[in-house]
Parts: sequence; C-alpha cells; structure tokens
Amino acid sequence: MRFGCFACNNVADADGSVPIHFRNFDTDAAGGPLVRIKLARRRDEMAALVEHILTKCPDAKHVRGRSWLYHLPAYRRVFPPAYVASAEPVEPEARNFQGNSLWGQVIDSEEQLRPDVTDMVMAALPTMDLARPWTVFPFGLLATRASLEKFVEFYRL
Ligand SMILES: CC(C)(COP(=O)(O)OP(=O)(O)OC[C@H]1O[C@@H](n2cnc3c(N)ncnc32)[C@H](O)[C@@H]1OP(=O)(O)O)[C@@H](O)C(=O)NCCC(=O)NCCS
Repeated sequence: MRFGCFACNNVADADGSVPIHFRNFDTDAAGGPLVRIKLARRRDEMAALVEHILTKCPDAKHVRGRSWLYHLPAYRRVFPPAYVASAEPVEPEARNFQGNSLWGQVIDSEEQLRPDVTDMVMAALPTMDLARPWTVFPFGLLATRASLEKFVEFYRL
C-alpha cells in the first residue's frame, strides 16, 4: 500500500515487523521529496502509513527499514528518534544487489546522476572486492527498527 513517497506491505512478517519503502514521487519547482519545506508532507504520509498498519495488520509490532537513506539527516528527520537511533550497518545479500536501497544514492531527485557519487563509485571499481561489491558505494546499507508505539507517539496518532 502506498502513501505518497512511502509504501508498506499489508501483512506483518513472521517476526511482527512491517518493512517500509521509499520512492520519489514528489519532485516539483520547490525541489525534491526531502527538502525541508516538504518535511510535514513526508511525516503526514508516514503517519497515514502507520495508521494503515494499526488498522490492517493486527499482528504488527514493529516497523523496519533498510536503506542508504538513513545516512541523510534530511531523511532521518521524518522518523521517530528511537527508529533513527536503531540504525545499524548491514550487508545486502549478494543475490539481491540491484535495488534502490544502495543504487538510489547515485541519482538525485531529477533522476540525474550525481557526479560526486558517480566519481567515487568509478574510482573504487578497479579495487572492488568481488565478494562484497556493494562496498564501492559511499553510503552503506543501514537497517532500522522501532516499535509501533514509538511511531504512534511521534506522529501523535
Ligand atoms: C533520495 C533522493 C530523492 C535525493 O535527491 P536530492 O535531489 O538530493 O534530494 P532532495 O532535493 O529531495 O532533498 C535535499 C536534501 O537531501 C539531502 N541529500 C540528498 N541526497 C544526499 C546525499 N547523497 N548526500 C548528502 N545529502 C543528501 C540534501 O543535503 C538536502 O538536505 P537539507 O535540506 O537538510 O540540506 C534521490 O537520491 C532519489 O530519488 N533516489 C532514489 C530513491 C531511493 O534511493 N530510494 C531508496 C529505496 S530504499
């Protein structure tokens, strides 16, 4: 189910967690989806997502995420502090290395390549560890998790 730039599954995983996903559906004259003036919009979308989980996923206990985006203050400010504080580096599965959870950092909100990030990735290629190719990206994958209560409190639901 999608709520603006955020989406989640309609059922909780076996451990009671619901993963969330972010895609850019909000670039306009004011900027990309993470500019400060759109912060309230992003929080409203997340609040709607949490309300959806509360009503449709009775087994849900936690919200979780996995993305390079948790490195960015502009992304972290959308979420409860406890969720942001839980961020821990994780390695992607080698067979699951094509998604935006790492590749998303190579483009900006206009879907143009970021020259600085592209240069860093290209410079790292000659010495790339073939067993861990994701280490060529400046930002690694961070995993996050917090209880639904933390989201209810933060968005005042
Ligand atoms: C995330 C994304 C929208 C960022 O694009 P953008 O044009 O840089 O960002 P916006 O204009 O929306 O927001 C700008 C804010 O983000 C910050 N920011 C965005 N990318 C950044 C980066 N790579 N490094 C540092 N800061 C970054 C800027 O500093 C700015 O913050 P500020 O207002 O506090 O100064 C773009 O990279 C994208 O669409 N990626 C693909 C989607 C994706 O990665 N999804 C993850 C799925 S798990």
